[in-house]
Amino acid sequence: MSPSPVSPLFDEQPLHPEADRSPTLAARYYVDPAVFEAEKEAIFYRSWQFAAHRSELDAPGKFVTTRIHDQELFLVCNARGEVRAFYNACAHRAHPLVEGQGRRERLVCPYHAWTYDLDGRLQHARGTRSMAHFEQGAICLSEVRCEWLLDFAFINLDDAVPPLAAQAPTLADDIRACLPMHDELVARGGRSLTPPQVRANWKVAVDNFLECFHCRNAHPTFSQTLDVSRTDIRVEGIVSRQSMPASNEAGETPYVVSPDEPVQQGVFWFVWPNTSILILPGPPSLYVSRFAPVEPALTVRQFFGLGMPGEIGDAERARDRLASEFVGPEDIRLCEAVQRGLRQRGYSQGRYVIDEARNEWSEHALHHFHRQYLERLATGSDAP
Ligand code: FES
Ligand SMILES: [Fe+2]
Repeated sequence: MSPSPVSPLFDEQPLHPEADRSPTLAARYYVDPAVFEAEKEAIFYRSWQFAAHRSELDAPGKFVTTRIHDQELFLVCNARGEVRAFYNACAHRAHPLVEGQGRRERLVCPYHAWTYDLDGRLQHARGTRSMAHFEQGAICLSEVRCEWLLDFAFINLDDAVPPLAAQAPTLADDIRACLPMHDELVARGGRSLTPPQVRANWKVAVDNFLECFHCRNAHPTFSQTLDVSRTDIRVEGIVSRQSMPASNEAGETPYVVSPDEPVQQGVFWFVWPNTSILILPGPPSLYVSRFAPVEPALTVRQFFGLGMPGEIGDAERARDRLASEFVGPEDIRLCEAVQRGLRQRGYSQGRYVIDEARNEWSEHALHHFHRQYLERLATGSDAP
């Protein structure tokens, strides 16, 4: 890694195994292009990445494209209804096979029209009939692993990494237990074509997600909708989990949770290295998103939302407003301001605020995340 502009002013201290004695992750990890580059191999090409929802892939030929850092991929439902994932590069001369999302009977390359079936096998290779040494049957697209967490497809570019279900063995049951109507939920609005962008490093956005220490101060409306004084934050392996009950008290907030609503708490899961899964109190809903790195100081948050079938009611509208007009923009402003601070020559490392009660005053989940991060950046290991 190349030295960052700030490092010469400071002796960088390693993280201490005990969070309350530890300095924070040094600023250079958030700003240095060489670190950003190293994260591709060490973290993103070998971790489980949320890619699609089952509703996008529920009939033969339906496909959706995605990216992991600079790697372009697509998922497609084959003739037997199974979902498979492939690199989006033709086996001839690498032109991408599909764009966006849609449905195809076969995959026809736009460049020279080589044609693949829905299992990635080359079916027709235009121009090769007279070639004695061309083995069409030996050619297929490069496949990557695909695994389901509930109805969400995750992909992984590394064949050696343990399955997501082995790394997060209780996560699906925990989500189901918090959301008993999970099986009735349907896709809400599909994927956003213009997902929110944050001009900050992806880890700044993850750090912001992992604590509620900033909630009372920076999210006054959210802190009236949810009782942040009862925040509980647990970390285990690759998953961390924050929960807090609804406050049910009227205030300035656009959204007051009725005590009759089926879900009476907010739960915010984080799955290493960059997936968030959350439920909010009120009508049943579930949001999955990925903090996708674009540049060292640019991150896109790709959301997929589920809700109950039928018309969107007043409670959901008010809750959406809380997220889109208050909490979302507030967090983006915080993250972008932190990114500017991290570039300052006068800052390198801070301290975690830790409370043994693992409550709203505690940043222990950041310490856990940063320790995992440094370990994997150093070793490339992805064992839980
Ligand atoms: S690159 Fe796909 S057919 Fe040539
Ligand atoms: Fe926040």
